[in-house]
Amino acid sequence: MADVTDPAFRRIIAKYGKPDVLWTEFVSADGMFLGGKKAHDLLIRDLAYIEEERPIIAQMFTSDPGRMKKAAELCRKLGFDGFDINMGCPDRSIEKQVAGSALIKHPELAKELVLAAKEGAGDMPVSVKTRIGYNENQIEEWLPNLLRVEPAVVTLHARTRKEMSKVPARWDVIKRAVEIRDSLGSKTLIFGNGDVKSLNEIYKRIEETGCDGVMVGRGIFGNPWFFNENVKKEDISPKEILEVLLEHTKLYVELLGDTKSFAVMKKHFKAYVSDFDGAKELRTELMECSDYSGVEKVINNYISRL
Ligand SMILES: Cc1cc2nc3c(=O)[nH]c(=O)nc-3n(C[C@H](O)[C@H](O)[C@H](O)COP(=O)(O)O)c2cc1C
Repeated sequence: MADVTDPAFRRIIAKYGKPDVLWTEFVSADGMFLGGKKAHDLLIRDLAYIEEERPIIAQMFTSDPGRMKKAAELCRKLGFDGFDINMGCPDRSIEKQVAGSALIKHPELAKELVLAAKEGAGDMPVSVKTRIGYNENQIEEWLPNLLRVEPAVVTLHARTRKEMSKVPARWDVIKRAVEIRDSLGSKTLIFGNGDVKSLNEIYKRIEETGCDGVMVGRGIFGNPWFFNENVKKEDISPKEILEVLLEHTKLYVELLGDTKSFAVMKKHFKAYVSDFDGAKELRTELMECSDYSGVEKVINNYISRL
């Protein structure tokens, strides 16, 4: 997730509750190859990862097959375990580039992009993250279209572009997607995505739909223990939660502080600090911090009063 699963948060997740697979934030291939050296060097930093995060997949977007191929080549050289193409982002600025969700309206280009990525990827798997349709459920045409070019995985956010995130995820469509995949004899894995809030829910969704995996987005906000079978956030003391928040903040400043706004950390503060005594007041104090030492002071002050 853009401005969420950045290199700092991914390290924290890998340490406290590692999932089976991690994805980077989406990165613009146009920015990478057309924006000059400065943009290239900045974007490369979004793709920084450590061994503990493996298997790690790089996600990129562009509407240009040549740059998609170059992006996949680059990610192969960087040692990624897979290359994912974003065909689901509803942001207008991305859609204007005929990338993200807009590709659902351009099925031929979508296939070309997968083939171009495969050329650049060599033996690194290429996958697609998309939605079930643009204005309406188009799974019957959109999925077979993608399966024709044999991506390793299609991850389906179970809503249309029009629905954004406003309606509950339509997991019945994921079940149908698996049926379509099976009826076509395709080897592509189908991952479902949308509204999953616990590990148990993952297993339930897999059982209900027969999908091969579940991607979790917002569930990990403030909860790097999400995928940890042995720990539940509810059972962790506020002190421990706040120590991890501090560790996360420190990593963020070390890895990204010179280029990204400190404000990015504030949505993490809100998500970490909830459901314990004094959480509301603590959140308010944290929202006013503008650097690591401010956060450290506020947290240490809170912990000393526990
Ligand atoms: C802040 C934010 C950033 C996101 N960035 C990306 C992204 O870079 N690439 C992507 O494929 N999806 C992105 N998404 C969409 C999520 O991957 C996911 O499809 C969506 O949030 C629904 O799943 P969830 O209910 O588990 O969060 C983003 C979502 C949010 C809330």
